Amino acid sequence: MGKFTPLDFNKYAALARQAAAEGCVLLKNENEALPLRKGDKVAVFGRIAFHYYKSGLGSGGLVNTKYVVGILDALKEEKDITLDENLLGTYEKWIEKNPYDEGQGWGKVPWSQKEMELTDEIVESAKGADAAIVVVGRTAGEDQDNKNEAGSYLLTDTEKEMVEKVSKAFARTIVVLNVGNIIDMKWVKECNPAAVLYVWQGGQEGGNGVADVLMGRVNPCGKLTDTIAENIEDYPSQSCFGDLTRNEYKEDIYVGYRYFETFAKEKVLYPFGFGLSYTTFAVTAEAKEKDVDNVTVTATVENTGKTDGKEVVQVYVKAPQGVLGKPSRALVGFAKTGVLAPGAKETLTIDVTKESFASYDDSGATGHKSCYVLEEGSYEFYVGSDVRSAAFAGAYEQPFKVVEILTEAMAPVEAFERMKAVPGEDGTLKPGYEAAPLRTVDPIERMKENRMEPITYTGDKGYKLGDVLDKKVTMEEFVAQLSDEDLICIFRGEGMCSPKVTPGTAAAFGGLTPELQEFGIPAACCTDGPSGLRFDCGTRAFSMPNGTLLGCTFDLPLVEDLYEMAGREMRQNRVDALLGPGMNIHRNPLNGRNFEYISEDPYLTGWISAVQILGMEKSDVTGTIKHFCANNQESNRHHVDAVVSERALREIYLKGYEIAVKEGGARSIMSTYGPVNGIWTAGNYDLLTTILRGEWNYDGFVMTDWWAMSNREGYEATKTTHAPMVSAGNDVFMVCTDCSDMGQDDVKEALENGEITRGDLQRNAMNVLHFILGTPSILRFLDRISEEEKEAQEQMGDNDFVAADLVTYEADPATGDVVIDASAWNTKKGNSEVCGVTILADKMGTYDIEIEMKSDLEDLAQLPVTVYIDNIVKTMISIRGTKGEWIKETRDLGFFFGPNHYLKLYFGANGLELGKIRLKLREGMEVLSKHEE
Ligand code: BGC
Repeated sequence: MGKFTPLDFNKYAALARQAAAEGCVLLKNENEALPLRKGDKVAVFGRIAFHYYKSGLGSGGLVNTKYVVGILDALKEEKDITLDENLLGTYEKWIEKNPYDEGQGWGKVPWSQKEMELTDEIVESAKGADAAIVVVGRTAGEDQDNKNEAGSYLLTDTEKEMVEKVSKAFARTIVVLNVGNIIDMKWVKECNPAAVLYVWQGGQEGGNGVADVLMGRVNPCGKLTDTIAENIEDYPSQSCFGDLTRNEYKEDIYVGYRYFETFAKEKVLYPFGFGLSYTTFAVTAEAKEKDVDNVTVTATVENTGKTDGKEVVQVYVKAPQGVLGKPSRALVGFAKTGVLAPGAKETLTIDVTKESFASYDDSGATGHKSCYVLEEGSYEFYVGSDVRSAAFAGAYEQPFKVVEILTEAMAPVEAFERMKAVPGEDGTLKPGYEAAPLRTVDPIERMKENRMEPITYTGDKGYKLGDVLDKKVTMEEFVAQLSDEDLICIFRGEGMCSPKVTPGTAAAFGGLTPELQEFGIPAACCTDGPSGLRFDCGTRAFSMPNGTLLGCTFDLPLVEDLYEMAGREMRQNRVDALLGPGMNIHRNPLNGRNFEYISEDPYLTGWISAVQILGMEKSDVTGTIKHFCANNQESNRHHVDAVVSERALREIYLKGYEIAVKEGGARSIMSTYGPVNGIWTAGNYDLLTTILRGEWNYDGFVMTDWWAMSNREGYEATKTTHAPMVSAGNDVFMVCTDCSDMGQDDVKEALENGEITRGDLQRNAMNVLHFILGTPSILRFLDRISEEEKEAQEQMGDNDFVAADLVTYEADPATGDVVIDASAWNTKKGNSEVCGVTILADKMGTYDIEIEMKSDLEDLAQLPVTVYIDNIVKTMISIRGTKGEWIKETRDLGFFFGPNHYLKLYFGANGLELGKIRLKLREGMEVLSKHEE
């Protein structure tokens, strides 16, 4: 394994800032609105200017950062412009009365904030400004979709009125969209602002990146990763999206621009790949068949304008319709120039493999069922700076060719109609429908036929996992020593916040029991992702630009460099796998987690993800590509069935993953919560074995999403049905509290009754152990890491971007109370102290905290303490000086779910002493359930 390289924070911040700038997409720029000019007085409107959304919410948005630079923060630092202070003051006063609505916890945060009504007087008072910036923002999160409503996909009336009034009053009005993914854009025509800039959610350096673009230090070069259509109803998935039980993917492969460019060009406001620059470029290109398997595109880009800038060159193929039907355009390559000075040229060579644009025949219409084929005819290439304007660059004649022979897998079982291109009378293509081909092969039979023969149990022969690393024994010899219980324990990850790994992380897996540790198996660690490292105990980490933004950079080297820094940060924090990138397809703009994902296009999604992994792997740590697959809706995400044709799965929904595995070397994958074609993905043999391992040669491991379910065919999934995961090749169930509790699910029983085999468990364990052998966890366990790495990992706490080990206090088994001796805690003003607390599994319920406190100060002194559990503020205790007397203060901490938590106290003033802290169960589950009755 490679050498440890310490984190270079300045480089990290600089790369993130560059990405935040290069991901900005400029949709409109009239009246020379942008860039801002020296001496400009700028009026800033919109409350979100005061509350920058660095990321979305949910698991992908919980990074504790040391700082966040918002757009306004960054603009305030600009020396060449002045801001209208009076206007800022008006907003500040209003915000004081209308504070930011934090919502109430997970999934309940509002996705937009109340906006200040803009009176004519306020607008008038700002009239002296040369330019106006209007910031509009949206967040989004897990377990909830966006809605086609004001405040979500649509602007609210107040927002629209603000944009309208400001646009009327200022010739140079710039609307800045601080949103996770695309929103409705009809208002641009109606309100007519001079400029519109999507800046997405740029992480902690986001505001700096935006300011670089607004000021013209960076020329905008981001491109849309989605098509923006006029109405939400124009998206072909819209009629089915949101159905809570059955979501038919009727549009089939015609997702995003594949649909619009083929059938409905007129519905598009801004095409896929579109984005303006402050300069202009001319692109000339030639596409040629290089050899029997490849096409080469040579594109020359000339900067024909007046300022330096970069351009993205995109290559699209138009394949012949053949018998299968094809979209009019499919992205098959892209590249970005360096910074070109006016008049300068750069020639880019983009190699395209024919394999990448082959079509999957799931019906047998070509005579080659279950094969990737190139149908006969002329393949045309279009090259340019967006899908619509890309110009013809050459074509070649292709004879019919079978590119890859596969087997039917994951086909639908329920009949439905899917879209197919049919030529209309005028020769243009129209969306027709045909029956989607249904499943003919039983995956369970296939699974049984391909089962691994169990390796004979040998008992403990004294081999350690390190012996496999040192090639003294084989993996098979090592695994032969493990008992059924050991193997079942390896199948279970523990979390959240397991004290067995880095504090505050999502899960520990691998060597979690004393028996497994005796065999030399370390506990490996993973944590969210994708927007940076999530540590629920409060450890600071670096907050990254969101997935959509990274996609919009179309810049693979930049994203790889940025994730090289993430890899170093992970290694320093003893995290082996990040739970990201998120790479589901933006099938519909309303999906609540689109902000974490990248694009409507699988090729771009695949490559942006692949380079993230390559970057992290430079520190021998990795990403977890998720959610595998077709996790395209948050509403009822545990149950809604994605009904998809095998062709659409392979060409659209699996394609990005295939690229991340084959090109990025992904070795950690998370399956989803829900089913695809009736089979929950966590127990989907064809997905996790036939395709992933059989066809793609994946040699990593697969984990479930947190507390996911699986089903036996014909039955609904349940929380304790885990046996199908084992046989499907889902190696680790995430997460439980105690992996050695054999009664928690059906795995032991299924092993006893023959539904699953020891061979299944051994195969899965080998996948997990093989993964562990490729991560720093094994080096730490064997104490083979350098002094430099150890030192970097041992630095204390909070502000150093390192999650140091924490003392964990266990509950007293007799009383259930957790007692912490806090007498040595540093209670200095501004300091915080954190510790782990583990409550008893049978003592879940609501807890109180009781703290012994004393201060020698007089009773005029105020001594505030903020109490956090898992980094969420639970209560404040503010006492007055006690003249040396000990007092006890008791407060409600609310409900404790799961055993492992972090208690953090933040001290707001000097002069406090602490004695014992007690966490006491107030009402257990029995009492609580009575209340509910
Ligand atoms: C999310 C995953 C995440 C996991 C752990 C789940 O709710 O769907 O994406 O990685 O939690 O936080």
